[in-house]
Amino acid sequence: MRRAAALFLLLAACSASSPAPVDPDAPLSVAARAGKAIYQRGLAGDRPVAGKLAIGVALEGAAAACARCHGADGSGSSEGGRVAPALLPHLLFGQRGYDRAALARALGDGVDPAGRPLDSLMPRYRLEGAAIDALHAYLQRLATDVDPGVEADRIHVGTVLPAGRAGKAVLQALETAVAEVNAAGGIYRRRLVLVLASDPGAIAEEVLVLVAPAATVLPASVPAIGPLLPREEDPLGLTFDLVRAPAASAAEATAAIEVLAEALRRAGARPTRAAVVRALESLHRFETTGLPPLGFGPNRRLGIRQPPPGPAAPAAPPTPAAAARATR
Ligand code: HEC
Repeated sequence: MRRAAALFLLLAACSASSPAPVDPDAPLSVAARAGKAIYQRGLAGDRPVAGKLAIGVALEGAAAACARCHGADGSGSSEGGRVAPALLPHLLFGQRGYDRAALARALGDGVDPAGRPLDSLMPRYRLEGAAIDALHAYLQRLATDVDPGVEADRIHVGTVLPAGRAGKAVLQALETAVAEVNAAGGIYRRRLVLVLASDPGAIAEEVLVLVAPAATVLPASVPAIGPLLPREEDPLGLTFDLVRAPAASAAEATAAIEVLAEALRRAGARPTRAAVVRALESLHRFETTGLPPLGFGPNRRLGIRQPPPGPAAPAAPPTPAAAARATR
């Protein structure tokens, strides 16, 4: 009897005043997802967010996205001596004492919870109540949010199969390689799950990465590992070719999964697209089952450099850095 009363008091105390603890593994709520679009891309629903700098310059859409100054992961940035502070939840809602109302004042009026005016580099935003709610929800998840396709027990990996017989061979190779990774315990206890689509854009918000997508247009924000078809420009450097002239072969599909699995292991227990790209860039003479050793780098997106066909091309002039090294 007394135990039951004590338990009741305990439960009542937990649910009364303190805000519900944030579950780092729960998927983002609808509001937090909306906040993420504002924070990362400057989009409120399908409308660009508008902000204004104190000097009168108007910012819109991607230019007004919080991530531009506060970093995609909320760790802050500095430029020319001006600091956009980290917005991690333990700082913002802990030490700095923000709540929803204080956040609304910071965004709309440019003052902090103590009424101190914020640096003029922080834009003033005209946001509706729902957008403030959304940002408030997302900012609490900034440190623990993961990119699309990552769940507590699985990682979704997208692919687009080539037509016909080649498609069957590629699918079989992908499935076999994925099954091997999963049979060995997966990656940080997450299973790889293959998601098939005919349009890679349709699964951009469902998968962490694409492997062997047989498509010439790829979504701009999703890293992709070869075999890759010739495609449009890749300004963000998210596409990783295995070989120069890719064939939709089983060997390349297998290698793509092996490369992905290694990159995911290196990316750590909270894999993000950015972490996968950094991990891919760290692969050096990596051995796969069917291809020669391959590697990538910050400025290298082709895994296996093959000698160019035809007569040997004249040697490229050394870069200034290489020349400096050579004379040392
Ligand atoms: C153009 C760069 C820029 C953009 C875009 C930007 N900020 Fe800021 N933000 C700053 C700077 C610089 C400060 C520092 C102000 C200061 O400390 O005086 C700041 C401060 C803040 C603060 C106050 C932090 C504190 O510790 O008091 C909050 C909250 C904030 N920003 C949220 C946001 C949100 C949310 C967005 C997107 C809707 C955003 N910011 C977009 C540059 C930016």
